[in-house]
Amino acid sequence: MILNNIKLENFTNYDSVQCNLDECINIFIGDNGQGKSNLLDSIYYVATENSARNNKDRDLILWGRDYFKISASFLNKFGSNNIEISYDKKKKDGKKSLFLNHYEIEKLKDYIGYFSAVFFSPEDLYIVKGDPILRRKYMDDELIQTENKYFIYINQYKKILEQRNSLLKEAYRRQNLLNSMDVWEEQLSKYGTVILKSRIDMVHHLKNMAGEIHNYLTDGEETLDVIYKSKLPISLLETGQLASFQSLYFNQLKESRMKDLEKGYTLIGPHRDDLNLMINGTSARKFGSQGQQRTAALSLKIAEVKLIKSKKGEYPILLLDDVLSELDKKRKNKLFLSLEKDIQTVITSTDLNDIDTLIREKAKIIEIKKGTLKER
Ligand SMILES: Nc1ncnc2c1ncn2[C@@H]1O[C@H](COP(=O)(O)OP(=O)(O)O)[C@@H](O)[C@H]1O
Ligand SMILES: [Mg+2]
Repeated sequence: MILNNIKLENFTNYDSVQCNLDECINIFIGDNGQGKSNLLDSIYYVATENSARNNKDRDLILWGRDYFKISASFLNKFGSNNIEISYDKKKKDGKKSLFLNHYEIEKLKDYIGYFSAVFFSPEDLYIVKGDPILRRKYMDDELIQTENKYFIYINQYKKILEQRNSLLKEAYRRQNLLNSMDVWEEQLSKYGTVILKSRIDMVHHLKNMAGEIHNYLTDGEETLDVIYKSKLPISLLETGQLASFQSLYFNQLKESRMKDLEKGYTLIGPHRDDLNLMINGTSARKFGSQGQQRTAALSLKIAEVKLIKSKKGEYPILLLDDVLSELDKKRKNKLFLSLEKDIQTVITSTDLNDIDTLIREKAKIIEIKKGTLKER
């Protein structure tokens, strides 16, 4: 898909700006603190209704104002579209409003996936070296953008999990409460099974794609392997035995009750799982160098772009925030070569010299200064 135009009103440090984008490579250039990442974030917001940096809606409003509004026109496989999203902190229900092609959309899930974007910043290094929660978020973000139902399942799962956890805490004093646990465990294993099935399928594709990209970026010197780690018998999901898996999962939850009771939370399930990332056969998190971890994180993100393409039939927009200064020249050039022509890319940089002249000649360059834009 192609983002043709984006217009911001009171969004972060932008009062009122608009920007036309090229369908191939766009470069936002500017000093620190001028609004490059904010502009990328506004594009990500159009795709996910969330800030890539996890900022709350009210913090995205230009200081001193009451609302922000983002309008964008983009092309996807359904044709040309126009989207308008706004958030007003004075509205009591706290909801944002969303108009797609001038029709109001009530449920966000009806829109998610209509426009997709993948965001990569140096902080994504934490996918490799950070806590498991970041790797679960990586998987969930991708699945939310490609499977309409995943968004519902994951939210449902989280609600049920909270119920079971609060029951565990109460049951610590009143053990007879444990008898009512069955209902929650049945629901938990039901939603947990569909979530896990989606994740396992995703990792299966991811493994091949990320592996290939990592191998390419490192000139064949490194292999990257991705393994899904769970305490549940996930091999049953790989062979499509969902019903047997779910009943084993249900039993495992029951068996784990006393242990869970002591901890005060549920010890098994997709909310405790992880991805093992292995570079040349050893753990990337434990033994990878900074450069290896960075390349692995980048490979995972580019693989995400390709996964979205294979599932939705079109590429998402790739947003690369400040990643060039972090890569050596060889890997930088390989990165550009690995981006196929039909992936619309937006890159931010403080220094144009970080970008190869050949790329610069083809790209659209926009200068950002204190929340204003100027085309070069
Ligand atoms: N809600 C807001 N209102 C006004 N300014 C903001 C808001 N949120 C962030 N900023 C400011 O935007 C500036 C630019 O941020 P950023 O896009 O991260 O810069 P860059 O990526 O160019 O280094 C920061 O100085 C920050 O203080
Ligand atoms: Mg920035």
